[in-house]
Amino acid sequence: MLAASRIDEVRQAVAELAQAAPTARDLMQQMVKALHERMLKYNWVGFYLLEPGADPPVLVLGAFEGAMTPHTRIPLNQGICGAAASSGRTVVVDDVSKDPRYLACSLETKSEIVVPVFVQGKVVGELDIDSHFSSAFTLEHQELVQYCAMLVGTKLEASGR
Ligand code: SME
Repeated sequence: MLAASRIDEVRQAVAELAQAAPTARDLMQQMVKALHERMLKYNWVGFYLLEPGADPPVLVLGAFEGAMTPHTRIPLNQGICGAAASSGRTVVVDDVSKDPRYLACSLETKSEIVVPVFVQGKVVGELDIDSHFSSAFTLEHQELVQYCAMLVGTKLEASGR
């Protein structure tokens, strides 16, 4: 299947980036670029990181590819982003117009996935991807995005930010 082989290729490419990147920050920058360029339905790709020491906690926009978003700081009780970070679970929304939690980034966005990034079992941030296509994030895409988030968590543990 073409789609599956593209996912395998990208999985391999991000694994190579993780091996070569000197820091987690480098990895996040290279990863958002690679995912945005290679996955045609990934129309906005970005990381949010929990601001260290912030009380109440807030997610701050990090490396991203795609149009600038108005949501550069997101409290944990807002958005799909807040839901994923506060629950520590992947959130997939097939039709953002039907989810009352959704914070609009682009009028073209139809579906979204947000996957938490963990360091030593704690959420430190997340990988957020928006698509102009509804239901873009099937199970095999979820697995790819979770793999990417895991690589970044591992890199953060090994090298710091
Ligand atoms: N849609 C997100 C906000 C971030 S933008 O998509 C980049 C949310 O509902 O939390």
